Amino acid sequence: MNYDVIIIGSGPGGYVCAIRCAQLGMKTAIVEKYNTLGGTCLNVGCIPSKAMLDSSHQYHDAVHKFSDHGINIGTPKIDFKQMVARKQGVVDQMTKGVEFLMKKNKIDTYTGMGSFIDANTVQVKGEKTAEIKGKNIIIATGSKPSSIPGIEIDKKRIITSTEALELKEIPKHLIVIGGGVIGLELGSVYSRLGAEVSIVEYAPSILASMDASLGKEMGRVMKKQGMKLHLGHKVTGVTAKGKTVTVTAEGKKGEITLEGDYCLVAVGRKPHTTGLHADKAGVKLDDRGRVEVNEHLQTNIPNIYAIGDVVKGAMLAHKAEEEGVAVAEMLAGQKPHINYNLVPGVVYTWPEVAGVGQTEEQLKEAGVTYKVGQFPFRANGRAVAGMDIDGFVKILADAETDEVLGAHMIGPRVADMITQIATAMEFRASAEDIARVCHAHPTTSEATKEAALAATENRAIHS
Ligand code: FAD
Ligand code: NAI
Repeated sequence: MNYDVIIIGSGPGGYVCAIRCAQLGMKTAIVEKYNTLGGTCLNVGCIPSKAMLDSSHQYHDAVHKFSDHGINIGTPKIDFKQMVARKQGVVDQMTKGVEFLMKKNKIDTYTGMGSFIDANTVQVKGEKTAEIKGKNIIIATGSKPSSIPGIEIDKKRIITSTEALELKEIPKHLIVIGGGVIGLELGSVYSRLGAEVSIVEYAPSILASMDASLGKEMGRVMKKQGMKLHLGHKVTGVTAKGKTVTVTAEGKKGEITLEGDYCLVAVGRKPHTTGLHADKAGVKLDDRGRVEVNEHLQTNIPNIYAIGDVVKGAMLAHKAEEEGVAVAEMLAGQKPHINYNLVPGVVYTWPEVAGVGQTEEQLKEAGVTYKVGQFPFRANGRAVAGMDIDGFVKILADAETDEVLGAHMIGPRVADMITQIATAMEFRASAEDIARVCHAHPTTSEATKEAALAATENRAIHS
C-alpha cells in the first residue's frame, strides 16, 4: 500500500480528516479534482457567501444606520467589482491556508478526478494519471445543487448559488426559488445592495426545517427589509428569454407570474458521486444517492468510509468536520462520539438565526412535556445600543427535570451565541444552570441568561 489513508475530496470533511489522520501518525493522501483545496465551503459556499454578506451588511448600515449614529458620509456608492474581488481575496487566502496545512502535516495532495479501481485503489485523472493504493479510503466528495424537474439551469440567467456569488452586476429583480438557507442568505445580499428580491417557497413558511417561531419572526423582518415572500407556492415553470426570466408558481389562490432578470434556484443540494465509480469498489448508495454508512460512518466495504454532505444528515461544514475527525480517530483505534442532536444550524442573515437541539414541533410530536423561556432583544441593552432590536432567544427545557432540550434564536450575532447553549447541553445543563452563570454586561448573551431565567419559574428580570 502507498498510504494508510486516501481521502477523496478536500472540503471541510476531507481536509480536516486528512489533518487528523496525519496527526495520528497515518501516511495520508488527499485527492481533489479542482486546483484549489477547501471544497464547496471555502470556494463557493460558506466563505464567499459570508464575505458577500459582510460587505452588503456594511453597505446597508452605511445607508440606513450611519446617520442615526451621527455619521454623515453622503450617499454611499457600491463598487460591485471591488466587492466581488475582495470576496475572491478572502477565498484565496483561505484555500491557500488549506494548502499550507496539507504541506505542514506532510499530506500528499493529488489534483485530479478520483475514481475507484477497486476497494484499495484510486485512479487520479488530472494533468497526469496516477494510481494510488490505500489501506483505508474515505469518500468526502460532498454535494452539488439540486434543481426542480423540468427546469434547466443555464448558469447565466437561471443560476445556482455558485453563479450568484460570481455575478458581474447587481440584479434588478432577483427571483429566488426556495426560502431555505441559501435563498435567505443570498437573497439578503442582493436585497441590501438594492435589488428587488422575491422569494418563492413551497412550504407555508421560510426556514421550514427550523423551529417554527424563527421562520415566523424572520418572515416579518424580511418583509420589513423589503423582500417579497410568496409562501405556499410551488414553482411550475422557469424560462429565460434574453435578459428576462419568467417564473410561474401555483398557490392556494391560483397561479402567479413573476418577471425578473435573474432566477436563483436554491431548492437544496444532492450528494455528489459522479465519476467516483463507487460500484467498482462495491460501495452501496442509498435510494437518495447518498453513500450508505453505519453509525461508524463505515460503508458496506469495511475499509471504506464516507463523511460530510455525501452521507445522510445535515449538509453543514461543521458536521462534515466532526465526521472527518471521528473517522480518523476510529481508524487510530479510538472511540470518538458525535452528538448529532447538538449540531447547530445557523443562517447568516441580519438578524442572524440559530438553533440547536430539539424544536418545539419535535418535542410536541414526541410527546415530551416542556417549558418555554423567551426573551426579546428589544429589552437587551447591547442590542438597543446597536439598534438591533429584532428577534429573541427561546429556550426549551424539560418540564420535570429542567434539562435544556433546545434553543432557538434570532438576533444580532446569535451565530456565535448558539455555541454557549450547545456547550451547556453537551454537559446536560438545566435552564437554571445557565441562568446562574454570570454573564458579562452589556452583552447580547444576556438575552440567553434571561431566556433561561424565564424558563426557570418565569424569573426573567428585564421583561
Ligand atoms: P464539499 O465541501 O462539497 O467538498 C467536496 C470536495 O470533493 C469538492 O472540492 C469536490 O470538488 C471534491 N470531489 C468530488 N468528487 C471528487 C472526485 N471524484 N475526485 C476528486 N475530488 C472530488 N455550511 C455551513 O456549515 N455554514 C455555512 O455558512 C455554509 N454556507 C454555505 C453557503 C453556500 C452558498 C453553500 C452552497 C453551502 C454552504 N454550506 C455551509 C454547506 C457546506 O458548504 C457544506 O456542508 C460542506 O462544504 C460539506 O463539506 P464536504 O467536505 O462534505 O464536501
Ligand atoms: P434548503 O433545504 O435550506 O432550502 C430549500 C427550500 O426550497 C426549502 O424550504 C424547500 O421547501 C424549497 N423548495 C423545494 N422545492 C421547491 C419548489 N419546487 N418551489 C418552491 N420552493 C421549493 O436548501 P438550500 O437553501 O438550497 O441549501 C442547501 C444546503 O446548503 C442546505 O442543506 C444547507 O444546510 C446548506 N447551507 C448552509 C448554510 C449555513 O449553514 N448557513 C448556508 C447555505 C447553505
